[in-house]
Order: sequence, then C-alpha cells, then structure tokens
Amino acid sequence: MKPLGPIPAGFVANGTGQLLIGGTTAEALADRVGGTPLFVYDAARVAAQAARFRVAFPGIALHYAIKANPYAPLLLEIAKLIDGFDVASQAELERVADLGLPISFAGPGKRDQELETAIRAGVTINLESEGEADRTLAIAGRLGIAPRLAVRVNPPFGLKGAGMKMGGHGSQFGVDHDRAAVLVRRLVEAGADWQGLHIFGGSQALNAAALIDYQRQTVALAAAIADQAGHAPRHVNLGGGFGIAYFAKDLPLDLEAVGAALARTLSERPSILRDTSFAIELGRWLVGEAGVYLTRIVDRKVSRGRTFLVTDGGLHHMLAASGNFGQLLRRNYPVAIANRFGDAPEEETTVVGCLCTPLDLLADEALLPRAEVGDLVAIFCAGAYGLSASPSAFLSQPTARELLL
Ligand SMILES: Cc1ncc(COP(=O)(O)O)c(C=O)c1O
Repeated sequence: MKPLGPIPAGFVANGTGQLLIGGTTAEALADRVGGTPLFVYDAARVAAQAARFRVAFPGIALHYAIKANPYAPLLLEIAKLIDGFDVASQAELERVADLGLPISFAGPGKRDQELETAIRAGVTINLESEGEADRTLAIAGRLGIAPRLAVRVNPPFGLKGAGMKMGGHGSQFGVDHDRAAVLVRRLVEAGADWQGLHIFGGSQALNAAALIDYQRQTVALAAAIADQAGHAPRHVNLGGGFGIAYFAKDLPLDLEAVGAALARTLSERPSILRDTSFAIELGRWLVGEAGVYLTRIVDRKVSRGRTFLVTDGGLHHMLAASGNFGQLLRRNYPVAIANRFGDAPEEETTVVGCLCTPLDLLADEALLPRAEVGDLVAIFCAGAYGLSASPSAFLSQPTARELLL
C-alpha cells in the first residue's frame, strides 16, 4: 500500500456521496463539457489564495507566472487579482498582452524576434546573461526604443528544500551575482530604462524557515548589487517558490509566517532600497489547488493479484501525477473516486492512464473505494503544471477539455 497525497481542504461530497467542485458534482461538470478527460479550475479558490496573499504580504506586488497555467479564461480572472504577469515566451506574452497589466519576460534562450516583440510592447525583459543584454541593446538601438530591462541574478545561495532549484550553482538562469552590478551599470550607461533586479531561486518550497532565510538573503543581495552598481533599483522581484502539499506527509506552507518575516526584513532594509518596490512571483501556489483533473474508468482488471483501474486520461494530460515531472521519487498525488467520494476506502488499486507505457501511472497501490467501469477518478492539485506541462501529442490520444468555474 502506498499513501495518497492530501486532498486540499474544502472538497466535500453531497448527500449522495458525489464530489462537489465549486458546488457542482464532478459528474455534472463532465456532462456539461461533453465528457472526460477534463480539467476543472475553480476561480473562487484562486481568488481566495490571492486574498490570503494580500493579507499576509501587504504592500508587496503579486505577479502570476503564467507557465503554471496559461488557460485563457483563467488568465482573465487572475488579471483581476494580481499586479503583473511573468511570461517565458512570446506566445505567453501574447496571451496576456491585452490584459492591461505590467508584464515581465524571464527565461533563457529568448530569440531576437521575441526580444523585439517585448521591447516594442514595453515589457520588462529579465536579462538572463550578458549575451542576451548585448542582443537586446542592439535590437533596441535599431528600433530607437529605450528598452525596459531588469537583471536576473543567479544568487550565491539556493532556496533550501525547494523541489526545483534555480540558483546557488552554475546555471542558465540569471547573471552570476558577482557580475550583476557591472551589467547594471552598462545598461544604465547605454540609456536603457533599467527597472531593477529579479532573483528567483526555486520552486515548490514548503518550509517557511527556508523561504524566510532565502528572502532575507535576497534583499541583502539586492542591496549589495545596487550599492556596487551605484544605482537604486525601482523594483526588486524576490522570486517566489511557494509550494503546495502534493504528497503524504507534506505540510502546507505557513504563508503568514513568511509574510510577517518579510515585513520585518523590509523594515530593516538598507537605505539604497528605501524607495524600491518589491514583488513576489507565484504560479503553483495561486492556481495549483484550484484544479481537479477528471478521468473516467474504462477498464477494471486484475493481473497477478493486483487490481488496475484503467482510465481515459493519463500522463499526456497530467504528467506530474505520473511522477515524471522533475520528481526524484514517484509518490501518489491526492486521488479519489469522484462519484464515490463519501465511500470508505476498501481495496488496494493501481490507477493507470490509457497510454501504452508503464510510465502512465496515476495512483500506485492506493487504498480507494471499490470502483467500476464508468466511475470518475479525480486527481487533485492539478491546477498548475497540468495540461500545458504534459506531452499531449504522445501516442496521439485526444487532448483534455478545460473548464473554468
Ligand atoms: C522565473 C520563474 N518565475 C516563476 C516560476 C513559477 O514557479 P511556481 O509555479 O513554483 O510558483 C518559475 C518556475 O519555474 C520560474 O522559473
């Protein structure tokens, strides 16, 4: 038996044991869109997360990294809740270009065409290297536009305990911290509209103490770079990395503790950052728990004593639940039988997708209510890095539907 991850708080069954998502049964939602597989996103949950952030981090700008979930109707809702978007490609930029919020563009390997589009659109380009700075300045010179530029810094420290680390080692992300001040001076001297610094150290951190420590070091590093450069940054993006509980024994992040500590850190910040504004850039923490992936059981079989529930979905929609999206060890996501949400678990089953590969595992040796062909499997924590982070062309199976509540 392998444990399942914790179902996010607030998901309940109705009187007949059906899982409710945003007040409607999972079955009714599948009917509404014409079937499964289906991702359902509950906008009220996203709004509740944003409201919680506002209380915990007063005065700090909230940015959404759309790589976590670029579903257009969701972006429209999120635009009402945040202060800016972070994009990582021209196509992401185009998705939010008309939503009326500031945009920053991070990520290695920006092509000249992408840089040109970003410069013309007045987007802040988070420069990942000196080479990218050279190309950006040259393109801006040709266009006769003073580009909005920030320097992404590769800090000398990492975000401890993060599921993915983007700093503290040689990296394609950002300019090494000891070269950042020189680059800032160059940008200012070249006439660029220098916006500030972007320091993003990692993703999926649940440990408040590690985040507090990381943010304290980040503020100190930003001040040191600014001092060395001789220029005060207008903005410092402190990164994010706030995680959600996916797996058994994961404890939710103590957001309020991180917010209180950041307020203390900023109240004591060095004078060069006195007039600087600060932002936090989040993806999964904002949208992850708002999404549920629904897939229907098409076969139930027993093989050498093991019971398998074979579904119409799989890793081509929800790669992360299969354990193949950066996890070192495969562990079960929170999974339930949606139309038997009120039933007691009674048998050990392995839930798989319909792809012809043993990688396509959605819940391994999990204790679930007895389920039959036609029942609906719900995979929680599917709002971030779901459909758009999965190999949807693999085996040419149909894509999943998406629905925003
Ligand atoms: C630059 C940048 N910003 C934001 C994010 C979003 O991270 P998360 O979804 O964990 O909040 C990432 C994740 O890779 C990133 O690289």
